[in-house]
Amino acid sequence: MSAGHPLGIDVGGSGIKGAPVDLEAGDFAQKRLRIDTPEVSTPEAVCDVIAQVVDHFDEVRGDSPIGVTIPGVVQHGVVKTAANIDKAWIGCHIEELLEERLQHDVVVVNDADAAGVGELTFGAAKGHEGLVVLTTLGTGIGTAIFNEGVLVPNSELGHLEIDGHDAETRAASSAKTREGLSYPQWAERLQRYYRVLEDLLWPDLFVVGGGVSKDSEEFLPLLDIRTPIVPATLKNRAGIIGAAVLATASQRRRGRHTG
Ligand code: BGC
Repeated sequence: MSAGHPLGIDVGGSGIKGAPVDLEAGDFAQKRLRIDTPEVSTPEAVCDVIAQVVDHFDEVRGDSPIGVTIPGVVQHGVVKTAANIDKAWIGCHIEELLEERLQHDVVVVNDADAAGVGELTFGAAKGHEGLVVLTTLGTGIGTAIFNEGVLVPNSELGHLEIDGHDAETRAASSAKTREGLSYPQWAERLQRYYRVLEDLLWPDLFVVGGGVSKDSEEFLPLLDIRTPIVPATLKNRAGIIGAAVLATASQRRRGRHTG
């Protein structure tokens, strides 16, 4: 029974996935629902699918927090960038749009930030107090930075310019697929990327997420960097779980301010 559980929804390029999250267990409280991302993935079309996901878990309604992730910068509820999604997202006040559509408070955050919060709360970086950098390797590269457990939101280090290229166009897992790179070939690019990151940030730990992290033994051991680097453990659940954690924290803050 999921009454009272927060709902996390992860908007990706191919699928929109949601599940109620049990914050004691750090896992889904019910089987997740996945619906294909609409071909023309404008904010309105994606909102329709998000509404379907929310309706599917209708026992979650009431006061339960709802957190949604978007693969772009989200500042105070407004989407600011759209590297790998429809450009119609730029400038969209997605939190307002969803709140009107759902008649419910919603928190919208960057996808990598949510995945990082998931990993820090329940996964590979659980309880880590130092400087932790999570990277998600997928269509693009998402990053989340934490110091002493505190998120620095909307870091966009997948777009560092390295050797004259937007880093994600060379080192995301989509580049591996597009160019037919072997793991050792791709690892050379990852090595360049993580070395630049560690020279700029001096993290205590890198966590590597994204679908390809399930094959991490094929490429992480090939990297020669000084920072410990570990695969994410929540796999594709990290974004949904992190979104639910962030939405719950935001609801608590709002309650304190109004109560
Ligand atoms: C976007 C980020 C996002 C990442 C992973 C990048 O292209 O700029 O905001 O977190 O892809 O989806």
